[in-house]
Amino acid sequence: MTIGSHRPTRLVIDRQALYDNIATEKARLKPNTDLFMVVKANGYGHGILQVAQTAVAAGATGFCVAILDEALQLRHAGFNQPILVLGITAPKHAALMAEYGVSATVGTLDWLQTAAAVLETSGVKQPLSVHLGLDTGMGRIGFQEPADLKGAVTWLNQEAQISFDGIFTHFSTADAADTAYFKQQVARWQAFMAVLEDRPRYVHVSNSATSLWHDACNGNMIRLGVAAYGLNPSGKELQEPFALKPAMRLESELVFVKQLKAGRSVSYGATYTAQQDEWVGTLPIGYADGYERRLQGFHVLVDGHFCEIIGRVCMDQLMVRLPHEYPEGTSVTMVGTDGDAEITLQDVADYCDTIHYEIACGFTERIPRVYKN
Ligand SMILES: Cc1ncc(COP(=O)(O)O)c(C=O)c1O
Repeated sequence: MTIGSHRPTRLVIDRQALYDNIATEKARLKPNTDLFMVVKANGYGHGILQVAQTAVAAGATGFCVAILDEALQLRHAGFNQPILVLGITAPKHAALMAEYGVSATVGTLDWLQTAAAVLETSGVKQPLSVHLGLDTGMGRIGFQEPADLKGAVTWLNQEAQISFDGIFTHFSTADAADTAYFKQQVARWQAFMAVLEDRPRYVHVSNSATSLWHDACNGNMIRLGVAAYGLNPSGKELQEPFALKPAMRLESELVFVKQLKAGRSVSYGATYTAQQDEWVGTLPIGYADGYERRLQGFHVLVDGHFCEIIGRVCMDQLMVRLPHEYPEGTSVTMVGTDGDAEITLQDVADYCDTIHYEIACGFTERIPRVYKN
């Protein structure tokens, strides 16, 4: 994808904020608990490699990614920490994973047996590391019943090419005030764990929300994602146990400023018409950058003033109503603070009727990421 380095729209990523969030959470964990930083989806839009580097400095001892390619990207960049692919990778890639020391998430005995056959013919010497995923109620991937888990573990015990390194589950309501479903998942987790004679090296149940608000089921590793980026996993439902520092700021500039005469309209569909003469600025960002078309009527900050987005958001540009004339080149805050005023990713998400996760990882690669601190 083309990166817009000659246009004044950028995401400014605060490495100190990332560092502080990770280090503070790490300090809250029981001693000898590993923190695997979740860097999938380009580090939730913040930049996978830069986030990985800061995470290691802040105490992360491994990584979680969604797909094998993200793991290979980390390896090619020189990261030698353990990496777990959280999604299902086709067993035909077992030898590649073994060669790069990347752990696979597994949810069936079938997968293990197919992978073992692939490994046998591949000539790769290193065993493949696997973490067994347990479906305790997320309903996405993983073993469904304790008996199936037992069968897989028994089979693994006589298989030299595959190393049983971890076991985990994922909670679907850890970010909610109502804990009833969470407790059901914990009970299912306990039923699964009861069939295990020996615990593997990594036992992990905690995403950000579980780590922030729940007892971690005697795990010894957490998978920290959104909280590390300074975002409250619950949105506004639960109070953060410590102040999370947002790491992402979105900035642009006024590239065109004009006085719009009363009666003149703005953007596709002419959905906005000036009732009186007013000053209008154009920003070089649009829905092709992940700034959603639904944000018509939302606002940006110019010189500490909230300025409404008028007319439809175009693919690459949008217009805002200004309190008065500003020079072209005036900076605009689209996410972040400007004086006492602030627009958070949560505000953007609320307006779009979604969650901040989707907004953060939705900013496309056309917007350059600039790193500070
Ligand atoms: C299995 C698993 N663990 C951990 C995470 C990290 O979650 P969070 O960003 O809420 O910390 C995710 C994110 O989707 C996940 O799918």
